Amino acid sequence: MSKLILALESSCDETACAISRDGREILADVIYSQADMHALYGGVVPEIASRKHVEKISLVAEQAVRQAGISMKDIDAVAATCAPGLIGALLVGANFAKATALALNKPFVPVHHIRGHVAANYIAFPELEPPMTALVASGGHTVILDVADYTHMEVVGASRDDAAGEAFDKIGRVLGLPYPGGAALDRLSKEGDPAKYPLPLAVIKDHPYDFSFSGLKTAAVNLVHNAQQKGQDIRTEDLAAALSDTVARSVVPRVIAAAKDRGRKRICAAGGVAANSTLRALLQRECEKAGIRLYLPPLKLCGDNGAMIACQAYFEYMAGNVGDAAQNCYATMPASMQVCRADNEL
Ligand code: KG4
Ligand code: ZN
Repeated sequence: MSKLILALESSCDETACAISRDGREILADVIYSQADMHALYGGVVPEIASRKHVEKISLVAEQAVRQAGISMKDIDAVAATCAPGLIGALLVGANFAKATALALNKPFVPVHHIRGHVAANYIAFPELEPPMTALVASGGHTVILDVADYTHMEVVGASRDDAAGEAFDKIGRVLGLPYPGGAALDRLSKEGDPAKYPLPLAVIKDHPYDFSFSGLKTAAVNLVHNAQQKGQDIRTEDLAAALSDTVARSVVPRVIAAAKDRGRKRICAAGGVAANSTLRALLQRECEKAGIRLYLPPLKLCGDNGAMIACQAYFEYMAGNVGDAAQNCYATMPASMQVCRADNEL
């Protein structure tokens, strides 16, 4: 019997609902993005995000059920992202999912957002199975995971401070680009020379798989401010190219080394920053050299979406990782942890 999971995603500024069949097939995928509204403030305003989720959550769910051509009673479980993310925003999706599960008398499945990003690869590549090494690079996280199976993973390395996406967005803001700046900087970088503005590449002593991007962010911001004070022009394309190049040179060797260290023959990438063309090209080149098979999901599956949560929810459901009516949400949580048991483990 195939399993249909309806999943809600509301961890940041996207209200999304998707329906998966057996974890690989997506029957519906509806996203309402609040990005334009937050762009007015130059970043996500948590209070506004929560309120917008409240307005849109039942609409995206209704639309998803219609799109899938099913009825609510066909659903086997209802899932929602419960960690990590903006707490007020998470609570909207989780409460909606819990209430829906209760009304349908079906299990509620809490999902870890970062695990969801990894699962985007299972949709893009139906033949892909763990074990593998995963790189998740988004606006809030930069992490290397050793994925032993669908629901067991270990954090091998992570950013000690800012995520890579945070560096892109902050520099985009200083350059006057619309929020979030990552995609625009990527486009500009194609016309730029990465050697024009050398930026620092951080190394964390004794932690070869960890990252740091706050020094990179500050160096780039200072470069722009110093130039402005002296009335000089910064060539945006060159700074964008230097930024993408530095992030790629920081991330790629660590991911490859982590895969080699664990004897993994597959690497998959995920998260909004995995859409970056310089990062994708370097990953491709270096994986080929190392004889590692690389999985790069299409751009649409890199950023936040409901489909990835619906896919991971299937695997959590099959593993018995279901929550009860008391299930809480958590602003931070390592991807190695089972969300449904967080209260015991945190
Ligand atoms: O995964 P995501 O959609 O949301 C989070 O979970 O954070 O990632 C959003 C981040 C933003 O920081 C955005 O600027 C960045 O991904 N991003 C990019 C690109 N496209 C999106 N960064 C670099 N290059 C891109 N092409
Ligand atoms: Zn995300």
